[in-house]
Amino acid sequence: MASTPQSPPHPTSFLYIPRTPAGRPADHAPPPAHVRGARLEPPEKRAQAKQPIDYFFPPPSVGDKLVLPGSLHWQLCTTMAVRVLPLLLVLVASVHGYGYGHGDGKLRVGFYKDSCPDAEAIVRRIVAKAVRKDPTASAPLLRLHFHDCFVRGCEGSVLLNSTKGNTAEKDAKPNLTLEAFDVIDDIKAALEKECPGKVSCADILAIAARDAVSLATKVVTKGEWSKDGNLYEVETGRRDGSVSSAKEAVKNLPDSFDGIRKLIKRFASKNLSLKDLAVLSGAHAIGKSHCPSMARRLRNFTAHHDSDPTLDRAYADRLRRQCRSPRDRTTELEMVPGSSETFDAAYYGLVAKRRGLFHSDEALLRNEVTRGLVLRYRDAEEALFLRDFGASMVNMGRVGVLTGGQGEIRRRCAFAN
Ligand code: HEM
Repeated sequence: MASTPQSPPHPTSFLYIPRTPAGRPADHAPPPAHVRGARLEPPEKRAQAKQPIDYFFPPPSVGDKLVLPGSLHWQLCTTMAVRVLPLLLVLVASVHGYGYGHGDGKLRVGFYKDSCPDAEAIVRRIVAKAVRKDPTASAPLLRLHFHDCFVRGCEGSVLLNSTKGNTAEKDAKPNLTLEAFDVIDDIKAALEKECPGKVSCADILAIAARDAVSLATKVVTKGEWSKDGNLYEVETGRRDGSVSSAKEAVKNLPDSFDGIRKLIKRFASKNLSLKDLAVLSGAHAIGKSHCPSMARRLRNFTAHHDSDPTLDRAYADRLRRQCRSPRDRTTELEMVPGSSETFDAAYYGLVAKRRGLFHSDEALLRNEVTRGLVLRYRDAEEALFLRDFGASMVNMGRVGVLTGGQGEIRRRCAFAN
């Protein structure tokens, strides 16, 4: 079996979060350029601009002797530092598959500018049509990208069908409630007509998720966020994998009953931080769930507690009336009652009141950092959450990507070529 691609390092800390001169995140700084919708510099350029440049000072020493500038030792040391070390770093990085995009290419905003100039517009048109027809269509599109990225990286494996000898991710238990595959198929068909063999299914998922969440965000649809109507700019240039395994999906996808340690571990294994965990959980501001994902919290929870004591009592009563049986797969529970089609920071208000639907939502209160973020997003201006969400989506979109000569561009998203 092909090995799972390595996740990229977590570059956002210096690329996206505006920092004060002292290096602390400037939480109340205006949204960074890519989130406001302004064009970005290519990632390599941004990275270079922010690289610390004083790596080799003070002067290196050999044994206990200080190496003085101008001496033969100094020349040897600087030659090592300037010429050899970078080569070694590149070698190590390529062995470990580091860099977001570890083929010979990189993700970048506007990857299809020349090869398929209307790619993003086509995705947007079809997502908008789906959302106009059914406003609940946004949430499944956002969730699909997450479920893709957490298993083998963002390379479209969640879209592959099972075959005779292989049960694919799609048919794994945590994925049985995924929807919107038809929207992705429509997008792919339109793109293959416009520019055959150019746009990957993995990128379609990333663009569609961005469009879906943008169309569910009021400040964005009102034109108050960015000129181009996007919550954030999406990087593209991913290629598709050809392996999909239900077992890997079960192993890698977070479970609604996970506690905070497990969640942190799962996110860290994708090079995603505690902040990414707290921010991306805010995706549960939109959409719905089904009873089996949370009903265990409602009855016979432990020998001492009939229901999960971390769940607000009145809320538990209400949910018990909705979920008559843990096996009820038809009743739909709104993530945020009354506002589950609008993407905003309302989720954090619910979680802080112990009204998050899942144990994993409540778990965010069990760690100092994630708890602090829950309270901050509840209290701060919504723009803070929206901006951070864009940055964390970009982070998630870099997990384990295939680029350059790796993988393929699938002709149909459900089948490897
Ligand atoms: C932190 C760990 C997470 C866990 C344990 C989790 C778990 C779940 C579960 C159990 C459901 C409901 C499934 C059902 O019963 O139908 C769900 C729905 C959803 N999740 Fe998550 N999730 C997590 C993180 C995320 C992330 C990172 C995103 C996106 C960035 C996301 C987006 C969504 C959306 C939008 C829905 C609603 C889908 C719909 O309406 O069809 N989730 N999640």
